[in-house]
Amino acid sequence: MSEQSDKIAAGWRNGDHVGRPKLKLVTVGEDDVTAAAVPDQSEAPRRRRTDASMEASVVDAESTGASQRVERPSRVVEEGRSKPSPADLRAKRSGELESESNARFLKLSEEKQAVELARAQIAQWAQMLEERVEDRTAEIARRNSQLTMLNTLAKAINQSLDPSQMSSAVLELVCELFGADMGAIWICPPGQSVEVQAHYGLSDVWNRRLQRGWPSRDLLQLHMQARFSAVVSDTTKDITPEGRMARHLGMGSAAVLPIKSRTEVIGLMVIGSVEPGVLDAEDATVLDVFSEQFGVGITNALLYEDARRRAERDPVTGLYNHRTLQQMLLQAMSHADDDRSSLAVVLMDLDNFKFFNDTYGHLSGDDVLRLVGVAIEQAIDPKAVCGRYGGDEFMLLLPGTDHRTAAKVAQKVRKVLSDAGYRPSGQQQNVPLAMSYGVAVYPSDGLSRHELIVQADANLFRSKTGGGDVVSAPSPYIVRARQIPGYEMIDSLIATVDNKDRYTRRHSEDVAEYAYILGEAMEVEPDMLDTLAVAGLLHDVGKIGIPDSILRKPGKLTADEMIAIQSHPTFGALIVGAIPSLQHILPAVRHHHERWDGRGYPDALAGEDIPLIARIMAVADAVSAMTTDRPYRNGMEWPQVLTNIERGLGTQFDPEIGRVFVDAMRVRLGAAAEVDTLSKAA
Ligand SMILES: [Fe+2]
Repeated sequence: MSEQSDKIAAGWRNGDHVGRPKLKLVTVGEDDVTAAAVPDQSEAPRRRRTDASMEASVVDAESTGASQRVERPSRVVEEGRSKPSPADLRAKRSGELESESNARFLKLSEEKQAVELARAQIAQWAQMLEERVEDRTAEIARRNSQLTMLNTLAKAINQSLDPSQMSSAVLELVCELFGADMGAIWICPPGQSVEVQAHYGLSDVWNRRLQRGWPSRDLLQLHMQARFSAVVSDTTKDITPEGRMARHLGMGSAAVLPIKSRTEVIGLMVIGSVEPGVLDAEDATVLDVFSEQFGVGITNALLYEDARRRAERDPVTGLYNHRTLQQMLLQAMSHADDDRSSLAVVLMDLDNFKFFNDTYGHLSGDDVLRLVGVAIEQAIDPKAVCGRYGGDEFMLLLPGTDHRTAAKVAQKVRKVLSDAGYRPSGQQQNVPLAMSYGVAVYPSDGLSRHELIVQADANLFRSKTGGGDVVSAPSPYIVRARQIPGYEMIDSLIATVDNKDRYTRRHSEDVAEYAYILGEAMEVEPDMLDTLAVAGLLHDVGKIGIPDSILRKPGKLTADEMIAIQSHPTFGALIVGAIPSLQHILPAVRHHHERWDGRGYPDALAGEDIPLIARIMAVADAVSAMTTDRPYRNGMEWPQVLTNIERGLGTQFDPEIGRVFVDAMRVRLGAAAEVDTLSKAA
């Protein structure tokens, strides 16, 4: 074969013929084959032929391969020792071209398939890449979310120094971040009981169990032995203590986080979801960071809470101390203003407390104070505030409470305390405990903290001087008097007198009450009832000008002291006379010490020359003087008082007015005795 034919054959095999003229083999001898260019138009029809010989050639070409195709011309030459006809040569050449075309077709098909496979592979890679990008984007978003939540967590920790509030806020945040449905936090420093507890999303059943003290301190300590967070992705397949605890709480997946304060585990946080797989091991690292931050925050909050508790609590009873009570009273008054509701203040003073200190020692006195504190807390509503106001004085703040309800609460405290008693060390019997109670209600009994406490204290004093173990609240006449325009000024005058002589306020209120009762019995006009109430409260306002040493002198007064004290009606008239709105009570202030027989003072008026209001005031004043305990004598019983009034009819008192009072009081006392008898029988 010539060098030219070799190149042509090689060109066909290598595909270099593309774009070149088609070649046609021409047999010129037994060992020589030359190639010549032939036009494509002559071959095209032949390639479309489908006779049997052509198919056979194609099959042969496909099955035998290129090497056999190269050898075929030689075989033709050998077999046809005789010279092949041009038709045979053309047919042979046509078959060869057909085979080559088919081979090219097959090769192109293979290449096309390879390209399609490559495209599919590339598409698959692209999809995988896209998924990886999506995963990475989601991971970045998740990390960003975690960082944001970490920042939010830090804010929640920094914004509140209340351990409970902080725990609740942190628990909710952590649950939200990790897709948890529920969770709980217990703060239980070693050697102490559970101090803080927060829960989120738990069922009502579990909320109740937690309130009842689940888990026990020992069980909690068992879980708190872990140093790092434990994540349970499927609690049904986990037999660790953490897994069992989470499964017990109804969690399908959970994380149990020890809360550390420096090196010490002080609590436990459990978060979880009903569904398994919501939390997995990848969350553990971030959860550790969370619990570490929370541990620092809650430690600081507990330290602050302890310092605050020490500052606002009484060290003996653990109740609020005096300073805190004053602050809380202001806050409660503000809330009452906002809610347009009332606020009751109850002052309580332990009767005969000195007896416990003197008889059993001051340690026993402290025990008694603690016992009283416990008894008070047992008797009151959780919304009420209780504190130690002074040495043996306690105070209750009862939001949204009126006089009647406050008196009931005081009676309940009284009963709990009475039932409790105090048993001194080594004694077989309890020593009874009793307190006196004074009630005042904001805003009807006073518009300022000072007024309110003064009123409660006055009622307490009334209970104390009435023998103790009694609850005293303002009478209806006081409540009515306070509704009179300008009462604030009247009350400030009363307070001024009261500051000089504590007895005077009690006495003034008593006089107002008896004058009011007498006015009702006389069926006076309603306006006159108000006047009697105000007159009773202010009738002794002239005592402002009397020296304290005379007012508080327990024994008999000297002649000069008597003259000084008898000047108080005149002095009171000067004060009241200078106040236009109080002109209607001026006769009561000036003449309440006049006598029916003309032997009174300051003007020695007699009979009906004495103004009516002053004659009423004279009866009320005498009744109060006889019923009130004084340091140097006890108050009289009511039968004796009424007898004395009867004896003074026509001499000291207006006979008609005195009689009306005696009859009215006997009816009242009889009704009260009947009620008492019936209640004892019941
Ligand atoms: Fe007087």
